[in-house]
Amino acid sequence: MRVKMGLDEIKSMFDLNGKVAVITGGSGGFGRAAAIGLTAYGSDVVVTSRTLSSLEETVSEVEKQGAKAMAISCDVTDADSVSAMAKQVVDQFGKIDIMVTGAGIAARHPAEEMPIDEWQKVMDANVKGTMLCCQAAGKDMIKRGEPGSIITVGSIRGFLGHPAGYTAYGTSKGAVHLLTKQLACEWAKYQIRVNCIAPCIFWTPLTEPILNDKELYKIFMSRIPIGRAAEPEDFIGALIYLASPASNMMTGHIMSVDGGAAAG
Ligand SMILES: NC(=O)c1ccc[n+]([C@@H]2O[C@H](COP(=O)([O-])OP(=O)(O)OC[C@H]3O[C@@H](n4cnc5c(N)ncnc54)[C@H](O)[C@@H]3O)[C@@H](O)[C@H]2O)c1
Repeated sequence: MRVKMGLDEIKSMFDLNGKVAVITGGSGGFGRAAAIGLTAYGSDVVVTSRTLSSLEETVSEVEKQGAKAMAISCDVTDADSVSAMAKQVVDQFGKIDIMVTGAGIAARHPAEEMPIDEWQKVMDANVKGTMLCCQAAGKDMIKRGEPGSIITVGSIRGFLGHPAGYTAYGTSKGAVHLLTKQLACEWAKYQIRVNCIAPCIFWTPLTEPILNDKELYKIFMSRIPIGRAAEPEDFIGALIYLASPASNMMTGHIMSVDGGAAAG
């Protein structure tokens, strides 16, 4: 089968008008930037987090751009909560075209002291949470028979070890990377593309203590050839590309957006 593109389709390959995107972790650094970026390219957005009030700022920024936005409370580790969230999106907007799994947590301890309950919490939020959200979106896309794009959030730590106690986090992100490839292989036949953005460290309230510590900053920057930590807005370009028809031939890809950290 040949898929030919005319000039109009080429010009509109990043256009997301008419699309409905769900972003989990919508109150976080990545999630907020993702919501603003997707809206800027025409999508309506649903942002989710456990606490509704934490989403108010993101929703009001999105609405300022004239897009439709909705906030939903959802715990990504709870299957019932994720199904209820997906149902609410479909009831309100009719569909899910784009799912961005931005919710995630980290924990750092030396491997020999890693508390296993904390390990499990990281696995639940990052791996089970990603799977449940992909599953909920995938079910809607398959049922409607329409193409969809799912974008998971991995990490440079899903590729490379680090001396600073990342056994739980790194393992969870390695799992997210492989989950992305697995879903891509299973759902390509439904025209559902599943790709992953793998960031290096970026500025959020949680990483500020690390990035504001001169010694730690030096250690982290020694591993990032571009020589700076990312900003949440640095991921918008990759996100729009993966969400839109511009990346129609791409699925199962782990896209490093990391200032070259994974390159050497
Ligand atoms: N900040 C970094 O340097 C960095 C680097 C690489 C990858 N990442 C990944 O990027 C993603 C976003 O990170 P961030 O830095 O924006 O983090 P953040 O802490 O600012 O945001 C995380 C979001 O996830 C939500 N969340 C956590 N557990 C949840 C649960 N059980 N149910 C629902 N929501 C839940 C939080 O409420 C928050 O909205 C995460 O997957 C993180 O692992 C972050």
